[in-house]
Amino acid sequence: MAAMQHRLLIEIVDLAADFIAMADPEGRVTYLNPSARGMIGMPSTQDARSTRLSDYHPAWVMNLLLDIGLPEARRAGSWSAETALLHRDGREIAVSQTIVAHKDARGRLQGYSTIARDISDRRAHEMERQKLIEALWRSEAQFKRAQALAHVGSYELNVPPSGQDYWSDEAYRILGLDPSPGTLAAEDAIRRLVHPEDRAYAEEVYSRAIRDGKPYSAEFRIVRPDGTVRSVHSLGGPVKGGDGSVIKLAGTLQDVTERKQAEKALQNLAGRLIKTQEEERRRIGRELHDHISQRLGVLAIKLDELRNDSAARVSGLDSSLEEPLRQIDEITGDIHRLSHRLHSAALHDLGLVPAIQRLAEEFSGRHRIEVECTFSSIPSRLPRAVALCLFRIVEEGLNNVARHSGATSAQVHLARNADGIHLIIADTGVGFDANSIEEKAGLGFISMRERCRLIQANILVHSNPSRGTTIGVWVPSKSLDSKAFGADDPAADPMNKLSRDGG
Ligand SMILES: Nc1ncnc2c1ncn2[C@@H]1O[C@H](COP(=O)(O)OP(=O)(O)O)[C@@H](O)[C@H]1O
Ligand SMILES: [Mg+2]
Repeated sequence: MAAMQHRLLIEIVDLAADFIAMADPEGRVTYLNPSARGMIGMPSTQDARSTRLSDYHPAWVMNLLLDIGLPEARRAGSWSAETALLHRDGREIAVSQTIVAHKDARGRLQGYSTIARDISDRRAHEMERQKLIEALWRSEAQFKRAQALAHVGSYELNVPPSGQDYWSDEAYRILGLDPSPGTLAAEDAIRRLVHPEDRAYAEEVYSRAIRDGKPYSAEFRIVRPDGTVRSVHSLGGPVKGGDGSVIKLAGTLQDVTERKQAEKALQNLAGRLIKTQEEERRRIGRELHDHISQRLGVLAIKLDELRNDSAARVSGLDSSLEEPLRQIDEITGDIHRLSHRLHSAALHDLGLVPAIQRLAEEFSGRHRIEVECTFSSIPSRLPRAVALCLFRIVEEGLNNVARHSGATSAQVHLARNADGIHLIIADTGVGFDANSIEEKAGLGFISMRERCRLIQANILVHSNPSRGTTIGVWVPSKSLDSKAFGADDPAADPMNKLSRDGG
């Protein structure tokens, strides 16, 4: 019975997938199972009993066994650790190994047996995981760096709010918060951080994105906990769940404060340039009108006196003076017209409608282009800045008709309605490709746009090759309010200096 059991045991050991070996107290091998032979690449012809346990292990494992493993097995009965086997081709095979020390009844060492299981798969798996973690960490670090460089943070907000939203470190930094305390809820963020004046707008943007399931792009101000105000651009869209409902809003947050400031500075500069140009025009206009034409007038009177002098009549000088006098008269007329183009006295003295009418008449006479003007409910008194802006746009618009359109007629339409004032300048000439306006825009369109910006008006240029050109300007009611540009406070009127006194 015992022999049967022993044979069965040998059979099991022979069939086991693990490395199983036995050795005498000196480490000479007495038994090696087939799996063990396979794992270390021992040829089936070789007799295992000619080998030693030390032949199957790399040097570092042998040192470990001699210093710790075998003494510990002798002391405690067994010892286990992660070690390695050495294949004949030099490869190390990671194993989990147990060594048992066998003693007789009197405690004398009989020998050792050992069992080792290949764990290289597990090791490879762990190393793979380690690499993955490192790669993730690296890409996370890169992500953070990229966000910090671009001043762009990102977020994912749960819908409905759960208080478990994700904000990237850079998003926290933009909001002026410390990332370490963890989550910041979306509703909280809007209530706590969005500028009170922009709060309703920001709430509307996000709730509309959730309601309509559409992307959004919005700029608003935030107030950081330390009180500084920054401008941010939030760009994102809804993430939908399996049933099509919005489960998240995912987007980016960019700090655009510097860009906003630069834009504002540029606008201020453009506004100041226009203002300076108007001042210069007025100064030259007045100089021509008051000074030069005055002096020409005096000169003409003197020459006329000379012509009427009896001595001149006798000498025949009087008829020679006819031509110079006629020329002086012509020059005076030219100067008069020029000074009015530089600075419209009519605009100041009579108001926008008569000034445009005069401009149109003068233009028709000069260019043989018929201008049809219609006015509806235009108040006689408008903020000066508004009147000047509209007047200059009509002037430049008509100049363009003459210079570029080839049309023989043009329309100017000015109407007041509940929303504000609407100006249209149209021709049916050659037109142009309005898409290329950015690249071809001369100073004409640029200054029209800047003038509109000064009074918060909108301008739209519509043109089609061979279908003519239309310029539309909308001045909102709030810009028509007499207080819009501080009409009651002359110093606050951006165009004040330009039109306070006529020329
Ligand atoms: N009424 C128009 N008809 C046809 N082309 C026009 C008209 N107005 C403007 N354009 C085109 O747009 C360009 C830009 O106009 P603008 O900004 O006033 O600059 P500029 O008149 O100095 O060229 C013009 O050069 C012309 O090609
Ligand atoms: Mg032009």
